[in-house]
Parts: sequence; structure tokens; C-alpha cells
Amino acid sequence: MVYGRAHNIAIALASKKRSMNKHVISAKRIVAVIQARMGSSRLPGKSLMDLAGQPLLARVLSQTAAAKTLNKVVIATSTDLADDAIVEFAEKHNYDLVRGPKDDVLTRYQIAAVASKADIVVRITGDCPLHSPDTIDEVVHAFLNAGADYACNTNPYTRPDGQDVEVFTKQLLDKAAANAVLPFDREHVTPWIKRLLDVSILNFRHKHPHYPNLRWSVDHPEDLEFCRKVWTQLEKNKKPSFIFGEIMSAMTNSKAQPGQTIINEGFYLSIFNGASSEAALPCKLDKSFEWLARSDKVVPGAAQTYSKSWRHHIRGVTPIFLESGQGAIVTDVDGNCYVDLIQGLLPNILGYAHAGVNDAAHRRAKDGHSFSLAHTLEVELAERLCKIIPCAEMVRFGKNGSDATAGAVRVARAYTGRERIAVCGYHGWQDWFIGSTSRCAGVPKAVQELVHTVPYNDIDALEQILASKPDEFAAFIMEPVNFHWPDEGYLEKVKQIVHAHGALLIFDEICSGFHFQLGGAQKIFGVLPDLATFGKAMGNGWPISCIVGRRDVMKIFEDAFVSFTFAGDVSAMAAAMKVLDILEDGDAYAQMTAAGTKLFDGARVMANAAGLGNNFELHGHPHWSIFSFVDENGEMDRLTTALWIQEVTRHGVLILTTFNVCAVLSERDVTNTLTAFAHAFKRVAEAKRQGVNPTEWLDGPVPVPAFRVRS
Ligand SMILES: Cc1ncc(COP(=O)(O)O)c(C=O)c1O
Repeated sequence: MVYGRAHNIAIALASKKRSMNKHVISAKRIVAVIQARMGSSRLPGKSLMDLAGQPLLARVLSQTAAAKTLNKVVIATSTDLADDAIVEFAEKHNYDLVRGPKDDVLTRYQIAAVASKADIVVRITGDCPLHSPDTIDEVVHAFLNAGADYACNTNPYTRPDGQDVEVFTKQLLDKAAANAVLPFDREHVTPWIKRLLDVSILNFRHKHPHYPNLRWSVDHPEDLEFCRKVWTQLEKNKKPSFIFGEIMSAMTNSKAQPGQTIINEGFYLSIFNGASSEAALPCKLDKSFEWLARSDKVVPGAAQTYSKSWRHHIRGVTPIFLESGQGAIVTDVDGNCYVDLIQGLLPNILGYAHAGVNDAAHRRAKDGHSFSLAHTLEVELAERLCKIIPCAEMVRFGKNGSDATAGAVRVARAYTGRERIAVCGYHGWQDWFIGSTSRCAGVPKAVQELVHTVPYNDIDALEQILASKPDEFAAFIMEPVNFHWPDEGYLEKVKQIVHAHGALLIFDEICSGFHFQLGGAQKIFGVLPDLATFGKAMGNGWPISCIVGRRDVMKIFEDAFVSFTFAGDVSAMAAAMKVLDILEDGDAYAQMTAAGTKLFDGARVMANAAGLGNNFELHGHPHWSIFSFVDENGEMDRLTTALWIQEVTRHGVLILTTFNVCAVLSERDVTNTLTAFAHAFKRVAEAKRQGVNPTEWLDGPVPVPAFRVRS
């Protein structure tokens, strides 16, 4: 059998012994193509390295070949001389193999598909010796059942990295091979396909439990060591192949530790390598400025929220007015589209204009929503929140986060009969808190004197402040987590100290509440406050917030006056009910982790590749992280940060200094965003190389934040 003669670069190997005739599950011929090469920047020759008595590639082949849905397995290697070793290996063991261009893996796949007469191609990469046949079968079955054109199990990852499966039609492969031009698309085979709008794509999720953070692919020596240990364990069972559950058990029994290095580093690097350091073209913002001229006459500050105004962005670079939003994309008044990494300052966790959520609110509004008396939906939503949020025994609603924090503080003061409040983080615009910041114009001195700021993760500072005015503190209100994670035992100690001083502990979970997982930080860390406040993502853009907490404290609401006209608006409550339905399903968080991890890891890999690893700081959770550039002394470098933001914005990403990730960031949105990052890192590196002061390349003034309260 001669494979791929037409391309004049493929070689043929007879493989009667290995040809498979499995259960016929489809009239279509399904062929797994395993890409493998000897070249690897981090682990050269890994394909044939030993894994408990067998070459790594032999492990991938035997595991793949055991999949019941496959008619054939073919190796696709390159014409590089170094890959003659893979050819010899295949010849010796009678495996089917084709050869094709080194960097054009897409063509190699096409050669393999033609040679093996495939109707459907299953893509497996040769660095996955812990792949399993049942994983492959599940994805192939799902692909066939859905009648999809393309299916994968990596968006989001529900099995470990190293169990990746992509399935697509030969027709689609041919289309990609004929049309994809970018080196990146040809190297990674499927990105071009995934950008198509007219194909049906299935993002398959395996059953729970999910393991999105396990790294099983072999890229680094430590990965190889890990796989060796697991295979040594598996070998004890003397079976020809192993299913996923058996590999998981072997991993546990072997006590092997999977590698900790970034997954898919090569993917980020190839995006980086494809980017240029040229200045991005400015976006047309004429209409934004026309509207600003009108706004200046009638709207002081030109926006209703400080960080949504042009003052908080680079004037002349970032649009000033938006027109619409759909999913993760917003369109400005000039018609420019952006992937929105601000997400309205966190509320749009499920993306803009979510049909299900909007529908729920609209249906409710049709039957009236701002009633003259209480409504049963208030009770239903409160009951539901009491089940979801660990400290919640009773609930009161509001519209903004500031309603909730002000209400919680009022109740804490009424409950304790004390006036002072210790704060840690940002808690809203009202007098009781904003008096502690530099933006305290209009706040009476007497009110300012009652609030005391405490740094995060600093137990001694908290103790000192509470002890400085014995029996005067009503509460300590804090963000239990924001971009920094609490030190081991910190939250427990906070609770102990606050209670020892006779004060209440309030967790401000306006941001953390729905963004990391349902139940908030109190659920993640297992520390229950007396009261907690939630808001932002609760209604996916429909205005709603709440205060929850201990029954005896919440009962104070019966006397303390916290009351306003729209607190009981049930259209936002209907939206919140729907948001909870969707978040309880679990997929939204998996999607956020998938997209957020790529942005987080990609940014770090690219910063290093640009030689800016020591200047670029990024921390937080994949769902919500913060970045900045720092100079040689570790001081914040606002000019470089602004230059980076300018370039990212002009490449179509609306951004402040955080990555606010929503659940509907598609793979395309993520790749586009990473491409924007790549250009920006290259531009910043170029400025440094040329010794250019970033202001010379900036087309607007560097924005000044209102104040900084998160350390
Ligand atoms: C932690 C925290 N608390 C309270 C608030 C105030 O919320 P709002 O702006 O909805 O009044 C915010 C707003 O960003 C916040 O981040």
C-alpha cells in the first residue's frame, strides 16, 4: 500500500497485521491520525523514549488502537531526517504511517486521510501516552450521534490534558487544507475549522467528575517521569490497553505527581511568533466623541460609574460609548466590535443579552414587576439562596452592591449598638465607606472618623485596630478574596479575632459571590461570616443584590430602616432565578475556567517569550485576574501598562487592568484575545528594545484610577 503518492512526500508501509475491523458503528470509515515527531524544543526524541519497557509512541498507538469506534490508526510524521527513526519504528512494528511537511501538520493530516480512505478523522497527538480508548470512543459516539461536523473534548477540558480528542469530517479537513493560510492554522490543524461559522461544532463534556487541571501530556522531563511511574503501575496488570478509570487508579496507586508546567505552551508560543511588533491601527471613534460633546453638556463625569467613564480609559484609544452587546462581544457607537474583558465590571457572567435570562425577566415584566405589596418570588429566591449560600438563613434584597453593604453595616451597628467599622477592600459609594478613601468629598468628618482601613492578609493589623478602640467596633467588613487568595488559616483567625472583640464579621462577596463558584468564598474556604453581601453577577446584568446571614442578626432588619422603592422588583429576581438554574448546571464555570486559564497562561507565556517576564505581573483566579507592568524596582509602570492596553484595545479587546472572564467566551474569542496580547507584548518589547518612552507611542493620556483600596 502506497500512501499519499500524489503529494510525492509520503511513504507507505504495509500494515495488514494492524488494520482493524472493529464493531461497525457507522457506515463511515473512521481513522485516527496520530501526529508524531522526534523534534521537540523541550524534550527532543520524546516520541521514542522509554515508558516502562515500550517507546512512548507505542503506548499511544496501543491505547488508541483499542478504541472500538476506529477502523484504522495512522501515524503522520514529517519528512524531516530526524523522523526517519519514527519510520523505522513503524516499519519494524507494522504500523501505518505517512510523511508530510514538518510545519504543515494540516497537510500531513490530509495525506493520512486520503491514504487511509477516511470519511471521518480522529486527531490524536503523539505526546499523550496516557490516552484511553473509552475516552476516544465517547467523543466519536457523541460526534456521530450529534451529526456534527467537528467535535472535541477540550473546550472545556473535562478529562486531563493528554486525553484530547478531535473528530472531524474528511470534507472539512479538505476545506481547511485548501483554504487555511496562516502558519499557525497549518501547524495546529483545526483552528481554521473552529473559526468557521457555518459548521456544527460539538464541545463534548465527559461525565463528572471532571479533571481540567491534570496534565498528562508529555512536554517536559517531569511529564515523562510522571507517565513512566503510571505506566509501571499499569504494567502490573498485564493487559494490552487500559481505560480511563484504570489509568486514574494507577495514577493514585503510583503516587506519581503530574507535571505542573503550563498546559499548551506551544499553542501560546505559536500565536506569539505569528504576531508583529508594528503599531496597531487606531479605531475610528468619531461618533464616540460626538456623543461625548453632547454628554458633557448634560451628564457630569460623562458616565454613571467612574470606571465606565473615559477618565478611566485612554481617551482617544478606547471607545467612550457602547451601543450593544451580544455574548462576549460589544459594539461601540462607531460600529467597532470588541471582545469585552470588562464585562460591565463583572455582572455579565453569562454574556450580554443572554436569551434565557432576558426571557425570564421579560416574561415576569409582562405580568407586572414593581408591585405595591411583597411578591412570592421574593420568598422563592430567598429560599433558594439559603440553600446555596452557607451562612444564609434569611435574605434581604437590593439593587446595587452599595445597597447591600450599607444595609449590612446599618444592621451590624444596630445589632451591636456600636458605631465603628473596620474595612478591607472596596465596598461601594456610600458615606460610611467612601469616607475612608481619597474620594471623600462631601462625606461629613464625623462619618469618616468611624471607618478604619485594614490591609488584607494582615492579622496583626486587624488585631491592633480593633484593640485600639475597645468595644467600639460594630463589624469588620472584608472581601474574603479578591485578586489575592487568603493565607492559610487567615479567614479563620479573622473570624476568631472579630468575635473576640464583640464585633460581627461581614463578607463582602459582591465580586467573589458568583464569580468563582456558587456559594461564594465562604463555601470555598469553609469560613462562615455573620452576614454576607452578594450582587454583580447575580442577575447577569439585571440589577439585583442581597444581604444574607445569621437569623438573629437578620431579624434586626425588622427595626433598622433599610427600605427603598425598587428593592422588591421581581423582574430582576426572575432573572436571578434563571442565572441560578444555569450556574447550578456547572458548565458555565467549566467554560470560564477553560477560557480564563488560556488567557492567564497565554499572557504569562507570551510575556516571557517577549523578554518581559520580570516586568509583567498577573495574579488572581482564572475567572478574575489583575495584571500590571512593573519597572526594575518592582514599582507599578503605568505608562507601559497603558501602551499594552492601547495595543490590545486596537486589536479588538475592551479591557481595563483585569481579565473579567464570562462563560460565553468562545475559542475564537479567546484566540483573538491571545493574538491581541501577542501583538501588545511584542510592541512593548520593541519599545524597550528601542529605548522609547511609552508616552511617545501612546495616543492618549494615561488614565488615573479613582483610588486604590485592594492591596
Ligand atoms: C467588593 C465590592 N463591594 C461593593 C461594591 C459596590 O457595588 P455597586 O457598585 O453595585 O454599588 C463593589 C463594586 O464594584 C465591589 O467590588
